[in-house]
Amino acid sequence: MGQISFARGIPAPELLPVEELADCAKAALERDGRTILNYGPAGGYEPLRAWIGERHGVDPARVVVTNGSLQGLAFLAGRLVQGGRVVVELPTYDRPLKLLAELGAEVVGIPVDDEGLDVDALEAELRNGGQASFLYTIPTFQNPSGRTLSTERRRRLVELAREHELLIIEDDPYGLIRYEGTAGPTLFELGGADVVYSSSFSKTIAPGARVGYLVLPERLVGPVTGAATATYITPSLVSEATVYEFLRRGLFEPNLARVRAGLRERRDAMLAALERDLVGAARWSRPDGGYFLWLELGDELDAVELLRRAEQEGVTYVPGVDFGGPASSLRLAFSFVDAAAISDGIARIAALVPASASASI
Ligand SMILES: Cc1ncc(COP(=O)(O)O)c(C=O)c1O
Repeated sequence: MGQISFARGIPAPELLPVEELADCAKAALERDGRTILNYGPAGGYEPLRAWIGERHGVDPARVVVTNGSLQGLAFLAGRLVQGGRVVVELPTYDRPLKLLAELGAEVVGIPVDDEGLDVDALEAELRNGGQASFLYTIPTFQNPSGRTLSTERRRRLVELAREHELLIIEDDPYGLIRYEGTAGPTLFELGGADVVYSSSFSKTIAPGARVGYLVLPERLVGPVTGAATATYITPSLVSEATVYEFLRRGLFEPNLARVRAGLRERRDAMLAALERDLVGAARWSRPDGGYFLWLELGDELDAVELLRRAEQEGVTYVPGVDFGGPASSLRLAFSFVDAAAISDGIARIAALVPASASASI
């Protein structure tokens, strides 16, 4: 078998609804071509904004649809940071970390444990450290750790943020990619206008469509659409109308069911392989959804050095340090390769981990 990638946090190509989207793109162009082939509103395709507004119970004017949700986060951070402090959970998604560094933000990291962000540590930071522009958090099936913030902590976090007038940016692209258990409330559902909600059709339909969105407090709509206008005038209305057609035809839920089943099988294959090969030598998270699982090796093992050897054995992953995690940690994406390759890839990594690693776990 060739290279096995646990590095790529992308869906397996067979999980993409290619034929349905081809039909939807054609239908969208035929139905609304004169609108979507022109420039249009910076906030996105109006019928899609309306659909999202209804789904989240907000005025569509508060919805800004962007070319992928990362673009929306970039617009928002660009307007909010202005050299100030930003609080993030660590480890966290590496791209916002890079974005914040480019914006000159002073990034303050708060640790996460099995229940997600450590709210006590955040409270101590807010009491001692002073005002921050915002908290960036991925409370559900986090990238990179796969962890989910408990409902109790969600409530405390929203209260704490309110008390300290801290804006929360809730990045939630994976919430619907759930394999088991029931979803708790989102921070946005608990916190309303004090929370910016970011999500995307990248994981639920297709990342190549590049359709993501923000639900914003009213005061931030103007600054974000201003940034959108300055960057691309109008987002890709053809993509947005294609996604809208997909939703309109009732394809979203059946597609989600198919995607969940395909990813669940992969998650199960990875957990089974880890149980088979690494019990006692490493610890890992057990995500109920999403794309990722977080592995912690013994303290004396360096995941960057292990990656060099893993690559020689034909397996890749992303070391935890790239996400602000400890040297002995790593992120395993189970979304891309199939169950047989997952089993093989874990066996190849396990063969490189000395049994003595277990001493420090
Ligand atoms: C936590 C998180 N936020 C945002 C994104 C970007 O998503 P989009 O494709 O909507 O830009 C990703 C993509 O992997 C992600 O993991």
